[in-house]
Order: sequence, then C-alpha cells, then structure tokens
Amino acid sequence: MENLDELRERFRRQAESVADRDSWEALRLDWLGRKKGVVRSLLSRIGEIAAEQRREFGQRVNELRREVESGLEEIGDRLTAREREASLVARRVDVTLPGRRPRQGSLHPVTRVIAEIETIFAELGFSVAEGPEVETDFHNFEALNMPPDHPARDTQDTFFVEGGQVLRTHTSPVQIRTMLARKPPIRIICPGRVYRHDNDLRHSPMFHQIEGLAVGEGITFGHLKGTLEAFLQRLFSPDTGVRLRPSFFPFTEPSAEVDITCPFCHGSGCATCSQSGWMEILGSGMVDPRVLRNCGIDPDRYSGFAFGLGIDRVAMIRYGIPNIRLLFDNDERLLRQVRR
Ligand code: PHE
Repeated sequence: MENLDELRERFRRQAESVADRDSWEALRLDWLGRKKGVVRSLLSRIGEIAAEQRREFGQRVNELRREVESGLEEIGDRLTAREREASLVARRVDVTLPGRRPRQGSLHPVTRVIAEIETIFAELGFSVAEGPEVETDFHNFEALNMPPDHPARDTQDTFFVEGGQVLRTHTSPVQIRTMLARKPPIRIICPGRVYRHDNDLRHSPMFHQIEGLAVGEGITFGHLKGTLEAFLQRLFSPDTGVRLRPSFFPFTEPSAEVDITCPFCHGSGCATCSQSGWMEILGSGMVDPRVLRNCGIDPDRYSGFAFGLGIDRVAMIRYGIPNIRLLFDNDERLLRQVRR
C-alpha cells in the first residue's frame, strides 16, 4: 500500500518532465501499456495480496489508474494546444505584404489602331463594311480593272485557293461588293486581313489594311486630299505634313501615293525615314470610271475616291515596333510593353 503512494509520486514527477509527444507516449506506455505498464502489472499481482486487503488494493490501483489517465490527458491536451500554436505561427500570413494582382489583359496594337481609325472615320460620316478573306478573282482583280493578263497582277504575289479563288490581296474587293450592293452616296471604310506571298522584316504573308471609299455626285480630288489630311493629322499629330505623289493603280485614275512627315523626326531626316523626312503611308486615287461601271454605277453622274492603308505599319510607327512579325508572334511580352 505504501508502494502505491510512492508510485503516485513517481508518476507526478515523471509527468512534470514530459516536454513533447515522444516522451508523452513513452510515459503512457510505461504506465498504461498492455503488457509492461505499471498499472497492468500491479493488477496481475493481485493474487499475491492477502485476501482481506485485496478489495482495498484493487480500489487504490484503480484510483492510481484514473489519476494516470487524467494526468496523461491533461498533458496531451497541453501538447496539442502547443502544437497547434506552433503550426499557426509557422503558417502565419503576412497581411502587410503587397497583394498579387491578377494579370490584366489588353488589346492587341493592331486592334487598337483599327478602333482608333474607325472612330476618326465615324466622325467623318463613314461606316464600317466587311467582306470575305477568300475572294473570287472577279472581286479581287477583274472588277478592279485587272483583267487576267494585266501586269499589275504580278505585283500582288497572290495566294491561290483551289477552285480558282484567292486569298484577297487587298481590301479593295470590299469596295466592289459594297458598290454592287448599294447605290451612292457611299461612305465606307473596310478594315481586315489581307494576304500576299511576301515575308521579311516589314512584310508578313498576312497583314491588315483599311480601305476607304466615298462615292457620290460631285466628289473631287479635293475631297480625297482634305479627307486624308484630316484623318492623318488626327491619327498622328496636328502638325503632320501630308504630301501626294503621282502614282498608278489600275482601279484609280488619277492615283496618288500619300506621304506624311516622318513621325520620328518630324521631317528633319532620320534613319527610319532614310533621311528623307517623309514616310509613305497609303495609296489612293479617284475611282476609275470603268470600276464604277463594272459595279453598275453611272460614271457620268457619280464620282468617288478610294484609299488603302496598311494598319500594321501604323501600329509599328505608333508603338515603335521594329519587326512586323512581332505583331503576330503572340508573345505576351509585346502586349505588356505596348500597354504602357
Ligand atoms: N489596294 C491598294 C493596295 O493594296 C491600295 C489602294 C486602295 C490604292 C484604294 C488606291 C485606292 O496596294
């Protein structure tokens, strides 16, 4: 019986020195283990106790067991609380750190330039028209005054599609489609993809043009020049100089190539404009009477002007992009740089 008091003391002392799960588990096995635990071995020796003391012995061993159990439970709870605390500290979130923003998308430079040009022309009374990228020979060439053996066809480096159709080499077939479908007055612009068998730093087999067409009574070359000047000065800057040079297109007569003062040096001459101070930006002219007639419009009553502009060139100038292919590589870094 005295022994039991001693054991109780011993358990208390051992319990005090438990510092972690391992020593807690060791203590539990020492005292409550099924084979060698102190409590179990006391009970197994109950036969050695004098018969009249057995009852009391049994009760006191049970008391000891309850004490051991509740002691272990208490320490275990304390360990659990400490472990949880430690893991909270380890996984602590620093709410003062700057957040990680979701990445923001942005519009492609070509899309942005198209939207800008559409806005300018909407203010000038033009609406947007579209047409197919796989075109008939008639719409892409023939109606535009380029019959099958016309030498101008050579300059267009055409992709032919099985069945005699072509990937449109310019947006001009959309003016044909529009004039065939509608009567004057017509004021449209047609943005879209065009295709030529061409590939270098400044040419890509697919690129973008915007076509412009105005047809009505009394439309003159002065309207063409005034419209292009207003447009180009809005698109680049109000002090942009505009120069027309005589040129040739089979579908316009007279025709003019249009230059602007170089947007990089403002006309003083730099490497980008080959020291000329000018940059060629679009082709234009008065719609050839034969083209009007091809579309069922009377050239004695109506006249018109048309122009075609490379959008990718404008995007490259606007955003300082040196190589046209960068526009079509789908490299996100380009979009991120251009957004700023
Ligand atoms: N279609 C011509 C080209 O792609 C551009 C142009 C359009 C010229 C309209 C004059 C009038 O080169």
